[in-house]
Amino acid sequence: MDSLTQYLDQHQDAFIDHLKAVLRIPSVSTDPAHRADCARCAEHVAQDLKRVGMTHAEVVKTSGHPVVYGEWLGAPGAPTAMVYGHYDVQPPDPLDLWRTPPFEPVLRDGKLFARGSVDDKGQVYMHLNAIEAHLRVHGKLPVNLKVVIEGEEESGGNGLEGFLTEHRSRLDADVIVVSDTAMLAPDQPALTYALRGILYTQIEVSGPSHDLHSGHFGGAVVNPANALCAIIAALKDGDGRITIPGFYDRVRPLTAAEREQLRAVPFNEAAYLAESGAPAAAGEKGYTTLERATARPTLDVNGMWSGYIEPGAKTILPAKASAKVSMRLVAEQDPADLFPRFEAYVKRLVPAGVRTEVEHLHGCLPFMTAPDHPMLERARRALTRAWSKPAAMVREGGSIPVMATFQKTHALPCILMGFGLDDDNVHAPNEKFSLSSYFGGTKSVAYLYEELAKDA
Ligand code: BES
Ligand code: MN
Ligand code: MN
Repeated sequence: MDSLTQYLDQHQDAFIDHLKAVLRIPSVSTDPAHRADCARCAEHVAQDLKRVGMTHAEVVKTSGHPVVYGEWLGAPGAPTAMVYGHYDVQPPDPLDLWRTPPFEPVLRDGKLFARGSVDDKGQVYMHLNAIEAHLRVHGKLPVNLKVVIEGEEESGGNGLEGFLTEHRSRLDADVIVVSDTAMLAPDQPALTYALRGILYTQIEVSGPSHDLHSGHFGGAVVNPANALCAIIAALKDGDGRITIPGFYDRVRPLTAAEREQLRAVPFNEAAYLAESGAPAAAGEKGYTTLERATARPTLDVNGMWSGYIEPGAKTILPAKASAKVSMRLVAEQDPADLFPRFEAYVKRLVPAGVRTEVEHLHGCLPFMTAPDHPMLERARRALTRAWSKPAAMVREGGSIPVMATFQKTHALPCILMGFGLDDDNVHAPNEKFSLSSYFGGTKSVAYLYEELAKDA
């Protein structure tokens, strides 16, 4: 066993402790009440970048939560990798469904439970561990590193975009490395070459100036809750196709080769479905489950509220009804182009007798990188070394907003090498990171730095 691998194996307990420390900081970016926690988390990550041996680390103010930036540029002639991740996390709600508190990390059955354990603090710390191991064992890194850890990934903020544009030349690199995606199974590493974009909206339907007695007014004025349901029901047809005019204009049909590539993915559909807990798979007609979940656009209600929702019965006609509706986007679809179409269509669907407002919450473009780029070949070699199994090439249905921004500001090949699992409860109560993923991921990243310095 080489000395690098030995170091990684011998320091697992310390790797857990360092991760636990950052997981104790509730860096919920969407909630203004956690603003100071986000700043504290950024400081903590910067300190850890220094601890592992980065020659430079700073916390940079932005229009939103700060960005953490670190550098190690002691390998002249070797390639430079920009490593991206995020220190912010999703809100922990609903709190009563957590077995242990979200910001008090605990180990159970080889899994570390805490909000942010896998998304994305644990995956960021795989890189810190790998840096530490190289610097302690060899006194240097095989590549130059520029580390960018942002604090607004989960909340659609755009502070990072300003940072990237402002420091464009300082951030120059040969490849972008991101660990914020998933594996296919606990022993099946994956490289992601595509992500979906998103358009996130909110609809509010209002009518009466106050809640009305449903016996006195029911049947005589339009009920905003009924109207909202009718609008939402009309957004998809019986084949699961989205009915917004022009919605598919910039969706490229999947080519035979793309569909073949997806069929070749060792995707365990039964396990995926079992993890969801849903009684059956269903979706757009004519597509497989994997195509629907990763390569086709979707439209989903993320939340809706109206009227009386406490125990028992109350006979009212609510004054208002609201829904959060988001669309996942693919290919050339652009949220900026789709929002006005969506808004106009919703307004057309509104029955007379109510008012409707459609609000744009956030959006990002879809992302794709060339799966056969030589940089990805180096990543495949690293994963084969770490897992004794070749990586699957996958598309992911989720979004990482900055990836499309990187393509604008940097136009570089992107290695998305992530180690999440389907049962990690990402964005949900009881989020966890399996230690096998954490340590295997750390090893993969340490090997990736070596492979990046070698020829393709
Ligand atoms: N790490 C995820 C993205 C992800 C999820 C990649 C699943 C692959 C599989 C990221 O932190 C995330 O949750 N992104 C949000 C972006 C949104 C808030 C704009 C998402 O996809 O919902
Ligand atoms: Mn993430
Ligand atoms: Mn996330």
